[in-house]
Amino acid sequence: MLKVIDNKDVTQKVVLLRLDLNMPVDSKGDITDTSRLEHSLPTIKLLRQNNAKIVILSHRGRPKANYNEHDTLKHTITVIEKYINEHVMFLGTHFKDDFPTRSMLDAADVFLLENLRFSKGEIENSTTFAHQLASLGDIYVNDAFSVSHRSHASVEAITHYLPSYAGLALHKEVTALSFLNNAQLSRSMVIVAGAKISTKISILKNLVPKVNTLFIGGAMANNFLKVQGYSIGQSLYEEAYLHFAEEIFEDAKIHNTELLLPKDVMVADDVNALQGEKRILTRNDISDTEMIFDIGSLTVRSICDAVCNSQLVLWNGPLGLIEREFFAKSSIDVAHFIAQHIIEDKEFKAVAGGGDTNLVLQKAGVKDNFSYVSNAGGAFLEWLEGKYLPGIKALETCNYTK
Ligand code: 3PG
Repeated sequence: MLKVIDNKDVTQKVVLLRLDLNMPVDSKGDITDTSRLEHSLPTIKLLRQNNAKIVILSHRGRPKANYNEHDTLKHTITVIEKYINEHVMFLGTHFKDDFPTRSMLDAADVFLLENLRFSKGEIENSTTFAHQLASLGDIYVNDAFSVSHRSHASVEAITHYLPSYAGLALHKEVTALSFLNNAQLSRSMVIVAGAKISTKISILKNLVPKVNTLFIGGAMANNFLKVQGYSIGQSLYEEAYLHFAEEIFEDAKIHNTELLLPKDVMVADDVNALQGEKRILTRNDISDTEMIFDIGSLTVRSICDAVCNSQLVLWNGPLGLIEREFFAKSSIDVAHFIAQHIIEDKEFKAVAGGGDTNLVLQKAGVKDNFSYVSNAGGAFLEWLEGKYLPGIKALETCNYTK
């Protein structure tokens, strides 16, 4: 059972608040989507209203313990200040003998520590590093569901050194997603799409026995079409993983799960195709020179029909190459349809997760219409796989009381 920070006495305490400030940036390094920070504003507000000092802990990117200017968190200060309307002091460190001391915390009320992944101790879940982090605070709060699938020092080991609680955003996310593991997935449909089958094998294997209908889209569907004997031209697929596609067909048969694949596709000769150069073909008609970049309208229709026969839809991954406007159409059409269906059928729920899926819903303007949209990518997927995430387990089992 998660202990939540909501009614704990934090007055005059220093709270180490784990956030996920790993937010997308443009080519100039400016943050383009602040949802992850916005998600945690209620927790920050609650702590500040109760007179706690906050030291924000976060990672950014995967710098493999090497300091670099691109991944430093110091530029994130101005964004946080804008949202919380308070001065935020940066605790810069290379995680050597320049690690900040507790006495430095007299200088302000809100601090941001440098990117934790500049330290090897973070990714190795080092107890020494966790102990060093813990020396800065009195209480630990994890408000970053999206990194709770990592056994990292600021997520797992730190809970052995401080009283540890879930933040409001993490609690909300776990509550919203709990029914996916426990409740009936009968009459549910899962849409799993994206580029690579290799990254979603265990999700597919875990879900096939549990759900009614599984739609596989994006370039990963090409593996399935190839196994079925269709020509996929020059389209992406993963030779080494074709046997997994075969296994999924088998599993679906055994568990009586309806497996839906693209019936028609949008093809072009290359990714830079202009409006007139893309064609919609049935899956029988793809020539050797063509590449699949999206699904066609017949397939969109079959997804929508399956949605109507379901009580719950889980969606992870875009159906086409959404980076190109031409090939984002099917994903946006399906997003609109699901959003409308939520309005029409009060029993129906739709949950989406992952960065690209978030982007699709944003482009479609329906993010707020879904029953729940998770900010998390990897953590959402591992949750769907039924895994007990190390960060959640650490909070549930923490019995540190000093
Ligand atoms: C994410 O973007 O999904 C989280 O910040 C976790 O990042 P990671 O996959 O690099 O651990």
